[in-house]
Amino acid sequence: MDDKRDADKRTPSFKVPSLRFSVPQQTVRTRVGGNNSTGGLHRQKVRLKPGHSALDWHRLTIESGSKGKLISGLDDLICDEEFLRLNQENAYGLDKLIRMRVPTYQIYPFLKINNSILQRHTSRTDCWTIYKGKVYCVSDYLEYHPGGPDIIFQNCAGKDSTVLFNQYHSWVNAEKLLETCLIGIFVNE
Ligand code: HEM
Repeated sequence: MDDKRDADKRTPSFKVPSLRFSVPQQTVRTRVGGNNSTGGLHRQKVRLKPGHSALDWHRLTIESGSKGKLISGLDDLICDEEFLRLNQENAYGLDKLIRMRVPTYQIYPFLKINNSILQRHTSRTDCWTIYKGKVYCVSDYLEYHPGGPDIIFQNCAGKDSTVLFNQYHSWVNAEKLLETCLIGIFVNE
């Protein structure tokens, strides 16, 4: 018994302070584009679902996007007379390319999309938007958006999101981020 107590005395020991982490709130508000007096915008960072980080999105674009799987709403297009009229210069074989799921970002010349076609793709699972004159399908991106799916869906579906996009984060390279989500170019006819 005494031997054990002596051994305990000889054994160096230290106390580990208890660590406490505070769990961040659901959203964190910061301001962009100036302070209150300069009219900056509120930016809300939203906690994304597990597996929805920027790296996860990057992986998805390589695995699925490169195969044209991040694009929705194409099946209706090939029997859409308006779409075929707009794209008559490359209409020959276009239906075959789309049926074969050739990624639209790899089709040249780029597909032409006008407003009435755009307006048929405004749901969460089939969400198209215009950014800098090009039409992108952002349905799969919604859950990966660091600002949350709602803000992007509400402001992008069937709309030109360029102005708001630049107000919130002009430094983000959307062309790269959404490269494999490109449907085509927006035409005003
Ligand atoms: C159209 C496609 C869009 C893409 C690809 C996109 C992409 C991104 C990216 C990469 C970030 C992270 C930025 C960073 O951490 O610096 C972000 C954050 C954010 N975005 Fe977007 N965004 C889009 C549209 C929009 C729109 C239209 C709005 C507003 C109406 C918006 C509002 C926000 C907000 C509030 C944040 C989070 C706040 C923050 O980063 O501090 N986004 N977005």
